[in-house]
Amino acid sequence: MEAGGRRDAAAVCSLLFLCLGCFHVIALKPQLFRLGASPLPSETPISYETLYFDQKIDHFGFVEDGTFKQRYLVADKYWKQPGGPILFYTGNEGDIAWFCNNTGFMWEIAEELGAMLVFAEHRYYGESLPFGQDSHNDNKNLNFLTSEQALADYAVLIDNLKRTLPGAQHSPVIAIGGSYGGMLSAWLRMKYPHSVVGALASSAPIWQFSGMVPCGDFYKVVTQDFARSGYNCDGNIRKSWKAINNISSTVSGLQWMSEEFSLCAPLKNKNDVGIFKNWLQETWTNLAMVDYPYEANFLQPLPRWPIQVVCKFLSFDSAVSDYQLLQAVSQAAKVYYNYTGITSCLNTSQTATGSLGFLGWFYQACTEMAMPMCTDGVQDMFEAEDWNFQAFSDECNAMFGVRPRADWAGVVYGGKDLASHSNIIFSNGGLDPWSAGGVSYNITDSLVSILIPEGAHHLDLRYSHDLDPPSVRAARLLEVKYFREWIKQAKTNTTT
Ligand SMILES: *[C@@H]1O[C@H](CO)[C@@H](O)[C@H](O)[C@H]1NC(C)=O
Ligand SMILES: *[C@@H]1O[C@H](CO)[C@@H](O)[C@H](O)[C@H]1NC(C)=O
Ligand SMILES: *[C@@H]1O[C@H](CO)[C@@H](O)[C@H](O)[C@H]1NC(C)=O
Ligand SMILES: *[C@@H]1O[C@H](CO)[C@@H](O)[C@H](O)[C@H]1NC(C)=O
Ligand SMILES: *[C@@H]1O[C@H](CO)[C@@H](O)[C@H](O)[C@H]1NC(C)=O
Repeated sequence: MEAGGRRDAAAVCSLLFLCLGCFHVIALKPQLFRLGASPLPSETPISYETLYFDQKIDHFGFVEDGTFKQRYLVADKYWKQPGGPILFYTGNEGDIAWFCNNTGFMWEIAEELGAMLVFAEHRYYGESLPFGQDSHNDNKNLNFLTSEQALADYAVLIDNLKRTLPGAQHSPVIAIGGSYGGMLSAWLRMKYPHSVVGALASSAPIWQFSGMVPCGDFYKVVTQDFARSGYNCDGNIRKSWKAINNISSTVSGLQWMSEEFSLCAPLKNKNDVGIFKNWLQETWTNLAMVDYPYEANFLQPLPRWPIQVVCKFLSFDSAVSDYQLLQAVSQAAKVYYNYTGITSCLNTSQTATGSLGFLGWFYQACTEMAMPMCTDGVQDMFEAEDWNFQAFSDECNAMFGVRPRADWAGVVYGGKDLASHSNIIFSNGGLDPWSAGGVSYNITDSLVSILIPEGAHHLDLRYSHDLDPPSVRAARLLEVKYFREWIKQAKTNTTT
């Protein structure tokens, strides 16, 4: 059985390829590391101060009284004091300096808003580790790695900044974040509305939880991206899985595939083939997240509209031999892995390098952030795979000794019942698979959804670019317009 086979593969291989269930969970993580890492435009010099703030390890109990040093970055070159706004980046699962460097939007609007920029690191990531890296395996310590604790860190830091920074007492603070960081921005506004006057939650899949959106929507978006990027491109990928199963059923076929894909380590058995298929699926998914309109350098350097380039190799009728089909798939995969032409071999243990915060995110996915995903092979181009919560939970238990709580995120953050909140922008890119779990309609006048049809994962937060589609330019303008309104509202409220 396919699914079982894959799960067996899980037990023996590295974290990255635990199993399809884990693979699904992992899917959120790559985005954080892959998105936004374009080379910094040299004309946009970035300069900030690195500071540290003593945070309680546990905000919600009184037994653990220890603290850790939370890193945060401050850029106040354009800040108009007193009372100028503060744009506060709610850090996600990685090095905050990296997010800071790659959230060009904030750097580009600081001057016009007279704003101070603050980038706060998420606990347990980057330098903000309350315990040594090794202790990540320690359950007792990991127990404090939750979104609620992270939100409390941000609220406490904001409270402290406003009390201690001369001129900041009446500064309206706007939360900004992308991906999981975008979820945190939205949630910060919901849970601490006195801390932040509004939030921009870019590509934030706050509804990618149990019972909120269909589990198959994520991979449908990936498939649509390929379908629209070349004739029969999705059809050929859909057909490739059977071709892989067929060719890999013989020893000579395994060898042929290993050579055709220039794999660093040859495929030896069924487990290896399962890992190989997961790796390909993740490759196509990553491409969907980073399908940007210009050449960019993420964890892989890619051409502009990379899926169109990939699909050039996959645009033919499927009436070809399995060998021919897989040859084309191999050429397509090499667009992603060898655009620069310096890759000597393809490593099926890697689609995500720079695995900062990797284990931490797994833990979060295994506790509060379990995100159901599934495929049916009909409306998407992948092998059919149900969402199996029990199997996923068992993997988590084996790995960390914890089990996810499927309904918790809905209980804490309100699921789809958000109308009592205000001043949150949810922006989503139509090409981004995470848009499937995002807020895609206007809930109220002040809970606004901005759609960017030609946008991949949080394109709006990136530096502006000559090749940006009009929809993302419009989105950024609208976002700034809302920021100005919130700032104005805040001023009115403090002077009355
Ligand atoms: C961020 O950019 C600065 C220079 O602008 C560079 O020195 C630093 O290495 C970058 N950090 C990360 C994590 O990308
Ligand atoms: C499997 O591959 C072989 C060799 O290309 C081909 O002859 C055969 O038709 C394939 N079988 C299926 C079921 O596609
Ligand atoms: C990567 O591209 C270069 C240049 O085209 C080529 O020589 C090399 O064999 C390619 N590597 C792989 C793994 O295909
Ligand atoms: C493949 O990637 C894994 C995980 O990053 C790494 O440990 C291994 O050394 C890599 N293998 C090769 C041949 O590069
Ligand atoms: C939500 O409202 C704003 C402002 O009227 C509008 O620009 C935007 O297109 C609306 N979003 C959706 C998804 O209809």
